[in-house]
Amino acid sequence: MRPVSMIVVGAGQRGAGYARWAWRNPGRASVVAVAEPDGVRRARLAAEHGIAAGNAVADWRQLAERGRLADAVLICTQDRMHTEPAEAFAALGYHVLLEKPMAPDEAACRRIVAAVEKAGCILAVGHVMRYTPYTRAVKEIVDSGQLGDIMSVQHLEPVGFWHHAHSYVRGNWRRGDIAASMLMAKSCHDLDWLQYILGRVPLRVSSFGSLTHFTPASRPEGAADRCAGCAAEADCPYSAPRFYGELLRRGEHGWPLSVVVDEFTPAALDEALRDGPYGRCVYACDNDVVDHQVVALEFPGAVTATFTMTAFSEAAPRRTRLFGTRAELAGDGRTIRVYDFLTRAERLMTPVPADSVHTADGHDGGDAGLMEAFTAAVATGDRAMIKSGPRESLASHLAVFAAERARLNGTVETIPPLT
Ligand SMILES: NC(=O)c1ccc[n+]([C@@H]2O[C@H](COP(=O)([O-])OP(=O)(O)OC[C@H]3O[C@@H](n4cnc5c(N)ncnc54)[C@H](O)[C@@H]3O)[C@@H](O)[C@H]2O)c1
Repeated sequence: MRPVSMIVVGAGQRGAGYARWAWRNPGRASVVAVAEPDGVRRARLAAEHGIAAGNAVADWRQLAERGRLADAVLICTQDRMHTEPAEAFAALGYHVLLEKPMAPDEAACRRIVAAVEKAGCILAVGHVMRYTPYTRAVKEIVDSGQLGDIMSVQHLEPVGFWHHAHSYVRGNWRRGDIAASMLMAKSCHDLDWLQYILGRVPLRVSSFGSLTHFTPASRPEGAADRCAGCAAEADCPYSAPRFYGELLRRGEHGWPLSVVVDEFTPAALDEALRDGPYGRCVYACDNDVVDHQVVALEFPGAVTATFTMTAFSEAAPRRTRLFGTRAELAGDGRTIRVYDFLTRAERLMTPVPADSVHTADGHDGGDAGLMEAFTAAVATGDRAMIKSGPRESLASHLAVFAAERARLNGTVETIPPLT
């Protein structure tokens, strides 16, 4: 297979992460240009990949103006900055790896699908959970029929107290108007995963949930607006100095610490927590996304599924139970247990992580799995390698939009058809 040339749009956490996969797999892909307004990030990625100065620019439009420079583009800008570059680079003939969520509303998602279908290019959406060894094993069990017909599903996303505080109270995904709903920002993966595992698109949905805890009403008496110097800090599970300080002491410089500081020193961290968003009191932020939510789904064949997202947990992998007519499967993101009703025997499996799982932030091999599939599809032209193409990604986004409507309006929503 020939190596695929790529340009990176947005050299933040995701863009830099995917680019690192290319760096580790030079026979599969190379990064030839980058667009990133932040000078530190741009220079770092350009240096890592030996990118010529003229190919390291501040804005994606500067690359789009130059026609097609590479086989593919990785669009890793923030949630509300996906549609325009996706349309522009597809029109230029680039194959596109687009981070989830595709776009903040249904019309924009449909525009992206129309653009890639018109251009005839490959689109892979960043639904990395479809690409993990764990998911592959669950999917094989379901498709083998050994569970019988799946009747019900219970799926839990324990976001975790510190992860929620980091990303969804203090961080980039704290507000619907600057990012997306919580369900879209975090749990679009889960609704997408359920659709993938069950092999069908849901029909109807209802949902409840709210922002209840991370509000001024929960603020302890005497708490300050920032953790630094706060009288309540020692007793607060959401203390930023404790959380980020421990990561710094342990030398864990990847995500999430790398979101807070560029320089890994106590002085840089103190300054970031004193002045920046990540040192704010979790009860005094401008957040509005929910901190807990449930979604109930009905799939064809009368299959029912419930999904729970909660901030109030240990940060842990998703947990799932699939209830079939012949067996029950319980998975915790690592180990899969199948209990067979006929034999009453139990089988335990621990799918081996892919060789290419290098970092803790690689979504259990999902990031590497997506890059492997995307680069192979681009190199060979075999689109079947993409598990998260335009149509299936649009379908799961439509389910998320419908679930949010159901939550906000107190309704049961019918999920609109794809066309
Ligand atoms: N697939 C997943 O599991 C997963 C996980 C985390 C985040 N995401 C998604 O990935 C996307 C990126 O997230 P992130 O954490 O890397 O964000 P980030 O903020 O770290 O990176 C985004 C980058 O885009 C850059 N940018 C802004 N304007 C630009 C422009 N005009 N041209 C080029 N670059 C520009 C920003 O400066 C920033 O460095 C988001 O949509 C996010 O929701 C997906």
